[in-house]
Amino acid sequence: MDTEAERSNSVGDQEKDTAQQTTVTESNKLDDRAETSHIDHHKPTVEEMEGAGGLKGLIANPFVFATAVFASLGGLLFGYDQGVISGVLVMPHFMATFPLNPTEKGFVVAILELGCWAGAWFAGYFADKIGRKFTIVLGTIIFLLGASLQAGAQNISFLFGGRFVCGLAIGILSMVVPLYQSEISPPEIRGSLVALQQFAITVGILISFWIDYGTSTIDSDVSWRLPLALQLIIGLILGIGILFFPFSPRWLMSQNREEDALRVLSRLRRLPPDHPIVAEEWREIKATVEFDRQIEREKYPQHINNGAKGRFMIGLGGYRDLFRKGIFKRLWLGCALQFFQQFTGINAIIYYAPTIFQSIGLSGTSVPLLATGIVGVVNVVCTIPAVLFLDQFGRRNILLCGAFFMAISHIIIAIIVGLFEDNWPAHKTEGWVAVAFVYFFIANFAYSWGPIGWVYPSEIFPLRIRAKAMSVTTSANWMCNFIIGLITPPMIATLRFGTYVFFATFTVLMFFWVLFFVPETKGRSLEDMDQVFGDKSAVHDAELMSHIQAQVHEHEAPPVAAVKQERDNLE
Ligand code: BGC
Repeated sequence: MDTEAERSNSVGDQEKDTAQQTTVTESNKLDDRAETSHIDHHKPTVEEMEGAGGLKGLIANPFVFATAVFASLGGLLFGYDQGVISGVLVMPHFMATFPLNPTEKGFVVAILELGCWAGAWFAGYFADKIGRKFTIVLGTIIFLLGASLQAGAQNISFLFGGRFVCGLAIGILSMVVPLYQSEISPPEIRGSLVALQQFAITVGILISFWIDYGTSTIDSDVSWRLPLALQLIIGLILGIGILFFPFSPRWLMSQNREEDALRVLSRLRRLPPDHPIVAEEWREIKATVEFDRQIEREKYPQHINNGAKGRFMIGLGGYRDLFRKGIFKRLWLGCALQFFQQFTGINAIIYYAPTIFQSIGLSGTSVPLLATGIVGVVNVVCTIPAVLFLDQFGRRNILLCGAFFMAISHIIIAIIVGLFEDNWPAHKTEGWVAVAFVYFFIANFAYSWGPIGWVYPSEIFPLRIRAKAMSVTTSANWMCNFIIGLITPPMIATLRFGTYVFFATFTVLMFFWVLFFVPETKGRSLEDMDQVFGDKSAVHDAELMSHIQAQVHEHEAPPVAAVKQERDNLE
């Protein structure tokens, strides 16, 4: 770990390092080039570079497939921790140990999201400083601590503390796992990963709901401690699993570890280091890293050789860029989309489904929990079409359709609850109709605002500021998630049917917002995005990038000899 940390120096230091290393390794490089010149000028075709995409692509390459499954563990943890609390809150032994009022209930749920919000911000710093892989390990260690505090909670402070600490970890993981994943994947499966991540979240929620259902009948504290403790297993699998995966080649390159980057690429692609595909990818990564440095040199010449302070100022400048005309419009759209995703009321259901089902007439402990388990199933099943067909229908159409039917569901539930909430025993059928509309609502969220809430922000920003922009939109999601977690229990207790009127209002608003303000992004390239949003930055970036790519292709060769030498020594 320390080698990585030691090498993660400031941009200024990196520049100096590069200069020094250039002199030391120049002659080696020349040797490498001489030895590998037969492959250097063969640029693989697009067909050679891009294998099969989607499921086929995953199955075709077991190592990449394992990586995709592994990435899903991050999402699984995200979903499990979000989902598990809903059932726990209504378990008799939990309620006896922690007799919470509605505000405290809201706080137990929402403090996790507050932690996530903070964790998502920190993740970026650690991901650059100690590397993606060790940031995942760090996230897992924090998670294990938080989960143990929750499962072993002796008083309410333990529980709050445990939820917050777990949130920090999930915030870190929700940011760094997809980042790491996308950096080790070949391009052809990168796109499907965002929808796959959403799928994993829903599977995590589903598992947690059914575990809650299964343990709810245990007649002791084990009923609620066990589901909270079981998270430790997923955390451990994630923490141990990551050790079998390599460092991100892009991160290695940004630390000037060019040989290591080549070694990792060769292992990931299961091809020799001098294979044209590996060489081309190595050059592409090098060009991207060079591109970032060039942009920094252009924009912040005064900070370049200024050590840690310079790096801090450059980082700050990146955030300032987000407020430029053209980019700000995208930032606003991305944040608004995340805001509306949460204000559909999805997590009012995910976190409080059993409480909500009780409030629409289902009685006992197991019936509401069973009904909640079905929420999980509907959520997973209806996410599948998104994974398979998202790209065939425009984003706008799917968002409009989802908002329309979610609004209808809320309105119908509001009417039923408003009319019959004072006498459910006499209106059992009406209660079940309301339950059916909760499922209909979930189904309409699952194929639309769930996945697109994450997909849209990932495709509207120019490459250079994408990570920073997404950290802002992601944190907007967690902040709104926190607010919903906090306000739902008091709303159900005091506003009653008004809760659904509240969410119906937002779903109607978001329908018109999409209709009038959200441009279609399906099938648009990065350069097209400029026209869509009236900005020039992506065109400039694209020109600079192709110039750097040409330069790298002409003058840079992967350090094949060194890597091969090491292999020969091992054999
Ligand atoms: C949302 C989560 C939500 C989940 C439900 C995600 O897209 O961001 O807050 O709990 O979908 O499936």
